[in-house]
Amino acid sequence: MKLPHGSTLVVASHNAGKVREIFALLSPFGIAVKGAAELGLAEPEETGESFAENAILKARVAALTSHSYALADDSGLVVPALGGAPGIYSARWGGEARDFGLAMKKVQRLLVELNKHDYAAKFVCTLALSDPAGITEVFEGEVRGHLEFPPRGARGFGYDPIFVATGMKETFGEIDPEAKHAISHRAKAFEKFSKAVLL
Ligand code: IMP
Repeated sequence: MKLPHGSTLVVASHNAGKVREIFALLSPFGIAVKGAAELGLAEPEETGESFAENAILKARVAALTSHSYALADDSGLVVPALGGAPGIYSARWGGEARDFGLAMKKVQRLLVELNKHDYAAKFVCTLALSDPAGITEVFEGEVRGHLEFPPRGARGFGYDPIFVATGMKETFGEIDPEAKHAISHRAKAFEKFSKAVLL
């Protein structure tokens, strides 16, 4: 699907940082970006069983209630040795307090308890675009690497301090944010989205 010049895109997220980032990306294309909070849209419960299901669910609800195009994302850390956990539960592992120090400890504890030696991991970002009728398209990006403990660096967020991308030595918590943005799962998903839907 193509986003027509002059259309409005609702970003189905209450995260002001995300909305700002998407605004910066799309404004050169003549697309007006609005945040879900700005429109008073409720945040649906993430009941899906995959990143794509959750992103589609959020995008469709926002599109159908606002009668415009809507974009939603879902992302997280996937550790194959843990059966893909924390995966879609990445944010929830931080608990109410969004304590990712605790979440990172849980990842380490499970790897040790389950006697796993494969520390391979990836970050995944799935974007879903819905048209006003609820027809959706999905774009996925990932960055592969491995986990290192204890956590290092305070520059990123979430699980960044334990993630080292393939070919790097420093964690995502230590590297320059620009360097992360150049190779991140989110950047890759947005690149696919831009190529596919922007005129
Ligand atoms: P979402 O906002 O519901 O997609 O939650 C994604 C969760 O996955 C975040 O709370 C982070 O814990 C984790 N996550 C996603 N992307 C990244 C990243 O780039 N670095 C570190 N953690 C991430």
